Amino acid sequence: MKKIKILAFETSCDDTSVAVIDSNYHVYSNLISSQPNHNAFGGVVPELASRLHLKNIMKLTKIALLQSQTPLSEIDAIAVSVNPGLIGSLLIGVSFAKSLSYSVNLPLIAINHMLGHVYANKISHPELQPPYLALVVSGGHTELVKFISNREYEVIGRTRDDAAGEAFDKIAKLLNLGYPGGPIIDKISKSGNPKFVNFPRPMNQKDNFDFSFSGLKTAVTNYIKNEDKNIIEENKHNIVASAQEAIVDSLTKKTINLMKKEGLKKLIVAGGVSANSRLREKIHKEIKKINGISYFPELQYCMDNAAMIGAAAIEKYYDKQFAELDLNAFSKKGLRFL
Ligand code: KG4
Ligand code: ZN
Repeated sequence: MKKIKILAFETSCDDTSVAVIDSNYHVYSNLISSQPNHNAFGGVVPELASRLHLKNIMKLTKIALLQSQTPLSEIDAIAVSVNPGLIGSLLIGVSFAKSLSYSVNLPLIAINHMLGHVYANKISHPELQPPYLALVVSGGHTELVKFISNREYEVIGRTRDDAAGEAFDKIAKLLNLGYPGGPIIDKISKSGNPKFVNFPRPMNQKDNFDFSFSGLKTAVTNYIKNEDKNIIEENKHNIVASAQEAIVDSLTKKTINLMKKEGLKKLIVAGGVSANSRLREKIHKEIKKINGISYFPELQYCMDNAAMIGAAAIEKYYDKQFAELDLNAFSKKGLRFL
C-alpha cells in the first residue's frame, strides 16, 4: 500500500489542534492551541471557544505544515472530527476542512472524536488490532466498547449520569482547585491517603457494566457540608485522593469483569482520563492477574489532539470512505463509525 500523509483537524471542544501524520502512524506535527481564556469561568464557554477556533485555525495549519516540512501538495487527504462536541466549535473545523478540501481537491474524511481517542493508541502501537476492549473515559464520555474488528463494535457499558472526567472536574470545583480538575486531582492525590474517606462505589454488581458518578459528587458535597472547615482545608489532598480512588476502582473493576466475561485479553484505554496516573497503575496491576495486556496513549495524545483524528482516518482512506462536501457537524454523543 502506498504511504500517505494526512492533514487532520480537531476543534470539538476548547482546544484547536492541527496535525500531520502518515500511514505508519508517524506524527510529523501535532499543534495544540489550548484556550486559557475559559479558566476564569470554571468551564468551557461555547461561544468563546468557537471564536477562538476561528482565530487560531489558519495560523496553526500553516505552522503544522511548516513544522512537518510537508507542502500541501504532498498531503493525500484531510481529516476532521465531526462529532460529538460543542456544535459551534465542531462547525469551525468542519467548515475549514471542507473549504480546504474543495480548494486543493483533496479527499475529506469525517471522524468521530471518540474513535479518534481510541486510535491515539495506534501512534505508539501501530500493530494493535482487534479484538480488544476499549475503556473510553473523557470529559463527556465513559464507555466500555468491544471492538470485534476494525469495522464492528459493540457498546456494552456506559455512564448513566456524569462521565468520569466530569466527576473529576466537578469535585475539583467543589474544593476550589481549578479547571480542568482531572490533572490537578491526579497531582494533589499523590500526597494524599486514598482511604481517608470511604466514598461510594455504586452499581457494584459483577454483571453490571454501566457506571454512575453523580452519587460520588453528592457524597463529596455532603462531606464538605458536614465536616469542620479547618479539617477540609487541611485534608484536601486526602479527600481528592479518596474520590479519585472511588472513580478508579469503579472503572478498573467493571473493565476487568467485562474482560473476564468476554474472554478478552487486550485492553485499550482512551480519552483525557487515560492520563490519570492512579488509573494507569491500577489497571496495569489488575490486568496482569488475568494474563491480559493494557495499552494507554502516550501522555501527549491522551487529551484532545488532531494526531489521533488523523490516526483514525488512515484505514478509512484505504477503504475510500470519503465524505461529500455537504458534510455537517453534529453533537450526538457516543463512539460510532461514520
Ligand atoms: O478527552 P478530553 O481531553 O476531552 C473530552 O473529549 O472530553 O478529556 C478531558 C477530561 C477532563 O474532564 C479532564 O479533567 C480529564 O479529561 N483529565 C484527567 C486527567 N487529565 C485530563 N482526569 C484524571 N486524571 C488526569 N490526569
Ligand atoms: Zn476528547
